[in-house]
Amino acid sequence: MAALPLPELYDKVAKVVPPVEWPAIALQVERILELKQQKNAVILAHTYQAPEIYFTVADFVGDSLQLARMATQVDAAIIVQAGVKFMADTSKILNPDRKVLIPDLRAGCSLAESITGEDVRRLREQHPGLPVVTYVNTNADVKAESDICCTSSNAVEVVESLGVPKVIFIPDRYLAKWVAKNTKVEIVSWDGACEVHERFTRQDILALRTQYPGLHVMAHPECPPDVLDEADFVGSTSGMVKHIGESRKSQIALITECSMSSNVTQMYPDVDFVRPCNLCPHMRRITLSNIVESLEKEQYEITVPEDIRIRAKAAIEAMLAVRLNKAG
Ligand code: 13P
Ligand code: SF4
Repeated sequence: MAALPLPELYDKVAKVVPPVEWPAIALQVERILELKQQKNAVILAHTYQAPEIYFTVADFVGDSLQLARMATQVDAAIIVQAGVKFMADTSKILNPDRKVLIPDLRAGCSLAESITGEDVRRLREQHPGLPVVTYVNTNADVKAESDICCTSSNAVEVVESLGVPKVIFIPDRYLAKWVAKNTKVEIVSWDGACEVHERFTRQDILALRTQYPGLHVMAHPECPPDVLDEADFVGSTSGMVKHIGESRKSQIALITECSMSSNVTQMYPDVDFVRPCNLCPHMRRITLSNIVESLEKEQYEITVPEDIRIRAKAAIEAMLAVRLNKAG
């Protein structure tokens, strides 16, 4: 067989990309690497991105909290967000002087679509005096109406950091239930859900356990409560990645977005990942081809009105401070 192009990058995806598909992928990867250098651009990719993006062209990878943190440290002229729109908004909110691009504006999120800034104002009227804790999976106008943001990695710590007996927690009803179960703080929730995680059922897990005795099941807290009750471990994206390394289990099911299994398969080659596969259609909108186009044409540029940006930034920074304080 002829030598493959970019062999050192191919090694990083060899477990999940067949050699026959690599030459076409490598052409696009090469073009992206060239454009990044020419334009002083970086690519931020969420763990749910396809492996050929995650392992080859991304400069920073992580879950929502890790990407928000990284966005505060970027000094490139252009940030391309290989994620969904709310993540690109967060990058822009934290980096107003840089050009932030998303390769496809349709990369949305069912949670972000479930609530508006007006809804938050109404909630405050219904529950006077309660602080609003907002999952980062929301649009900028919702963050702007909030006291503090959180991600699935730090939700309990953020809620408890406020030192109050009751909070409004929006918009994911399942994450809200998970937080309520893990804190004494009373939670007022909203009716949003992630269209990917809410599709998993307890039956899915029971069927997997029958098929694979001894299976270790890990689930994301955006899943329904009966799914979480059936799991051996519940954690955010980065929490799960860490737990895989620490638990040393030989066969694992990740009850979360499916590309994550592909990415961790490459990171933990000795673990057998059983895949119940729910892909996020919004994450899938981002491809190597539209990253090339995004860099070439510098599209689609994210903008956030300045009054909203300043208030949303305060809520994100309040969240980042909670973790910094905790870390000492
Ligand atoms: P985390 O990155 O916080 O785990 O959230 C998962 C998710 O659904 C991102 O869209
Ligand atoms: Fe939104 Fe769910 Fe997709 Fe994450 S996985 S972007 S929460 S729809």
